[in-house]
Amino acid sequence: MRFSLENKVVFITGASAGIGRDCAKAFHRAGARIVAAARSLDKLKVLASECGTDRVLPVQLDVTVRSQREKAIEFARSRFGAIDVLLNNAGWACFGSVGKTPLEDVSRMVELNFIAAVDLARLVLPEMIARGNGQVVNISSVVGGQAIPRMTVYSATKAALWSFSTGLRMELRGTGVDVILVAPGSTRTGFFDAAGKIDTTARRIAKTQYPPERVARAIVRACNHRRREVVLTAEGKTILLIRRFSHRIADAIMLQVGKRAMPKI
Ligand SMILES: NC(=O)c1ccc[n+]([C@@H]2O[C@H](COP(=O)([O-])OP(=O)(O)OC[C@H]3O[C@@H](n4cnc5c(N)ncnc54)[C@H](OP(=O)(O)O)[C@@H]3O)[C@@H](O)[C@H]2O)c1
Repeated sequence: MRFSLENKVVFITGASAGIGRDCAKAFHRAGARIVAAARSLDKLKVLASECGTDRVLPVQLDVTVRSQREKAIEFARSRFGAIDVLLNNAGWACFGSVGKTPLEDVSRMVELNFIAAVDLARLVLPEMIARGNGQVVNISSVVGGQAIPRMTVYSATKAALWSFSTGLRMELRGTGVDVILVAPGSTRTGFFDAAGKIDTTARRIAKTQYPPERVARAIVRACNHRRREVVLTAEGKTILLIRRFSHRIADAIMLQVGKRAMPKI
């Protein structure tokens, strides 16, 4: 059975820019009410005014702070009643070799890309299970399925999120709650500019980049059709297919891609 988004409440982290912002617009177009969360409240207010309805609620949230996560969920419930879909989208990368990446940046990636998503899921799941429906959507990455050098820690956090989604889906079997894993490939957002760069410069990874609106449409479709996993971009699908047959060849390709995109200074 399809999942209708009409009047559903969708809580989106990282809604101030890039994929999250376009998701907010796409879910809004699909008739949902949006809790748009990120640190930049000014950008969220612009998003809400662009949507032009009272169906978008901007919420200032640093997802790495536990008390803020709890408060944001409570605030969303107090305004919209319930959360039907949690979209764990906020993310950040620090590019650079493992040995040179400061531990604070490693911790930030783990906290932001993984722990925050796990905790937000823990906070919304009891009400979804009690209701017998809901969706947790986790935005991983193609590099969560096949790591790339100099994005090793970032890749590992996305692999953790992927594995978490698989296990959680099994735990929730029969509850009516869906767990949807989306692995975008290279997408045209401010991600590369926002990323930390330690001992490398960073250019776009793939020759072709998806526009974020296309990723957002794919995420809405995945919710409607209750998909389990969605991998995006032809290059992303290809590398994961190659990996199924030969890890050695997939590693060799990603080594070249990594060298080209993130040359050492
Ligand atoms: N772009 C790509 O090529 C690509 C490929 C695969 C996967 N992804 C994944 O897709 C997701 C979205 O990436 P994007 O490309 O849209 O990146 P982006 O344009 O850099 O946007 C990142 C979003 O995350 C938010 N964010 C960062 N730190 C946060 C924090 N501590 N608390 C709350 N929000 C925070 C930012 O908002 P504030 O700064 O306002 O907080 C922003 O809204 C990420 O998980 C990323 O890993 C991206």
